[in-house]
Amino acid sequence: MLKKNKNNKNKTFIPDKMLLSPDSSFSMQESFKTLRTNVSFSLPGKKNRCIGIVSANRGEGKSTVAVNTAISLAQIDKKVAIVDCDMRIPTVAAKLGMENRPGLSDYLADEDGNSRLPIIRNDDLNIDVIPAGTIPPDPTKLIESPQMRELIEALKMVYDYIVVDFPPVTVVSDAAILSSVIDGYLIVTLHESTETSQLDETIRQLNFANANILGFVYNSKPASRKSYKKNSKYYYYEYR
Ligand SMILES: Nc1ncnc2c1ncn2[C@@H]1O[C@H](COP(=O)(O)OP(=O)(O)OP(=O)(O)O)[C@@H](O)[C@H]1O
Ligand SMILES: [Mg+2]
Repeated sequence: MLKKNKNNKNKTFIPDKMLLSPDSSFSMQESFKTLRTNVSFSLPGKKNRCIGIVSANRGEGKSTVAVNTAISLAQIDKKVAIVDCDMRIPTVAAKLGMENRPGLSDYLADEDGNSRLPIIRNDDLNIDVIPAGTIPPDPTKLIESPQMRELIEALKMVYDYIVVDFPPVTVVSDAAILSSVIDGYLIVTLHESTETSQLDETIRQLNFANANILGFVYNSKPASRKSYKKNSKYYYYEYR
């Protein structure tokens, strides 16, 4: 079922400024170290952890936090996979300079069960990437399938951490549907953007699905391009 492919790389890739690297600002590096520590302490006793990254709305920084959390965990030699479960507007592969297809949707949509899951190795970042794949007509149907749950369980046998990037909770129910296999969710909130009522609704929906909420990532985007470097920062607040 699991197939690795090393050849899916865009040679002209210019890394996203928001990608965690040794060149990132001190505050960004420290914030992701703190996030990594808090994530590992928030699931004591668990060896193979699947972390879902969610937020209320589009554009609040979920995919950025998902990719950087995966990179940060890989930096301490954890075996890490990132899965792009936002099959509507996938961005994980693009952020990493990889092709988005084939991916998760192509694997799940194959009713004959003959296709293999494309796992793309990113040697530079020491992570395995499962892109979202071809945009399907009904992504929620694929997320709901028993194959999706089985896949997460199978990945848990192999990886220390599986980071799953989801679409926004107030828009579609995909994230909550997988609550039985996701060990914990991080809720990303965006400074001066996420409204309290939207956050309440996100928490309500996850609680309704019996999801384990680990905590919140407070994401602060700069107001303008000029202030980008100076002000870009992440904070992590423990929820429980
Ligand atoms: N702290 C930050 N500072 C500067 N830019 C940021 C920050 N966080 C995210 N961005 C930028 O904001 C945009 C949206 O971020 P991202 O794709 O991570 O959001 P998202 O919540 O996954 O969006 P969607 O719901 O559409 O998938 C991207 O261009 C990203 O590079
Ligand atoms: Mg996203």
